[in-house]
Amino acid sequence: MPATAGDLRRMQRDLDAAAQALRDAATILVISHIDADGISAGAIADITAERLGKEHTVRFEKKIAEETVEMINSSTEDVVWICDLGSGYLSEFDRDGIVVTDHHVPDPRWRKKQTVLDSFMGIRHLNPHMYGMDGSYEICGAGMTYLLSKAVDPANIDLAYLAVVGAVGDFQDSGHSALVSLNRTVMADAQANGDLVVDQDLRFFGRETRAINQYLQFSSDPQIPGLSDNAAACLQFLDRVGIRGKEGGRWRCWDDLTRDEKERATEAILDMMPEGDRERAFGEMYRFPNEPEGTGLRDAKEFATVLNSCGRYEDADTGLRICRGDMTALKDAERNRAEHRKHISSAMMYIRDNHLLRERRFIQWFDAGSEIKETVVGIVAGMILSSGECSRNIPIIAFADSDDGTKVSARADRSLVDRGLDLSRIMKTASELVGGYGGGHTVAAGATIPPDKKEEFLDIVEDLVSSQVE
Ligand code: C5P
Ligand code: ZN
Repeated sequence: MPATAGDLRRMQRDLDAAAQALRDAATILVISHIDADGISAGAIADITAERLGKEHTVRFEKKIAEETVEMINSSTEDVVWICDLGSGYLSEFDRDGIVVTDHHVPDPRWRKKQTVLDSFMGIRHLNPHMYGMDGSYEICGAGMTYLLSKAVDPANIDLAYLAVVGAVGDFQDSGHSALVSLNRTVMADAQANGDLVVDQDLRFFGRETRAINQYLQFSSDPQIPGLSDNAAACLQFLDRVGIRGKEGGRWRCWDDLTRDEKERATEAILDMMPEGDRERAFGEMYRFPNEPEGTGLRDAKEFATVLNSCGRYEDADTGLRICRGDMTALKDAERNRAEHRKHISSAMMYIRDNHLLRERRFIQWFDAGSEIKETVVGIVAGMILSSGECSRNIPIIAFADSDDGTKVSARADRSLVDRGLDLSRIMKTASELVGGYGGGHTVAAGATIPPDKKEEFLDIVEDLVSSQVE
């Protein structure tokens, strides 16, 4: 769904009006999501408010739960600026002075009752879905937040690269092996400011920090046949293509390779793959040349993972400090990253070893109970789906215990979305039918439901999936 010139003009008008609302406010409360996109968005909003000289605070939230709605409605700040959250819950807000820069699928109830009068209620809703675009890949929460920041002051162009981190953190580059649409406008700003370099490269994770043998061994989505998960074969491969793994006693990483070595290795790797996987394995990668070397912050995927490993372990503030360039936060981030790695790999093992993945006709699902954190279960579900160990033809639904019920995460292959699947709508409808709440994107969504309703919930989800997908 390409945006028309009219859509983009309307969006710019709305951005300018929201920018004015921020300038007019004496106090601003920024609320943002705890994932990589949310932390980047929160950092952009934080710096924007700071540069405006406003008294402001930043809070990170896992989701818009009932308490969050109450907190927003009763806050005393002139403006509550909600980033990478909020669109799915607009009809719950009953105060003036709300600015939302989000990309989740908007609340259908709010859309329906939206009239000319409602626009006086003071919700300034900036979301690509309102302008003919798809928020799951055309622009992210940090991207919308950045566009508002730039409408406040064009000098904020130095924050554009943070929106690239957000987009990559939300996997917006995965469908085309490159960012597209409005994300490219953001990219162009980051490039013009000298903060972003675009490489054509293999798209595996860890090109800056992983030892090259591990970079190959842990390659996934797509896998390299013969190399993925096979440590010995990776060493032999390096030998075969004449690349030294170590230099001066230290392992080299993918980015330490000379151009010539990289080309040789890339060609050999792509040759080992089935034709259909090559387009996913090779494409654009985003580099931030101004970040310090060896920190894992020079590559967008690695930067996003650092933020995710902070936010999902109740330490979003460390992620915020990193986005603000405070390198003393790196030590805390490293601790979070180690914990994240450990948790993810034990979570994957737990699901595999206990054969927890169950297949139904139109969905597959697992219940992690209290073994996987509710903030991470979605990442694990996504990894299982792309691991090649299960069917990509049906969505995956995962449960994990949470303080206020059972957390649900749902993920699907994009080809199912092309065939009509909308997980956001399914999570919203099915969770509300069992007394919960939910939303998200077409390809990735979530919900919270009462713990004794899982079976009923799965039945409803399965019905909805079968009726949506042709
Ligand atoms: O938590 P998880 O990673 O599975 O969430 C997937 C997407 O669904 C996220 O973008 C999240 O914001 C959204 N979501 C939501 N409402 C919920 C839970 C998740 O909109 N109750
Ligand atoms: Zn997001």
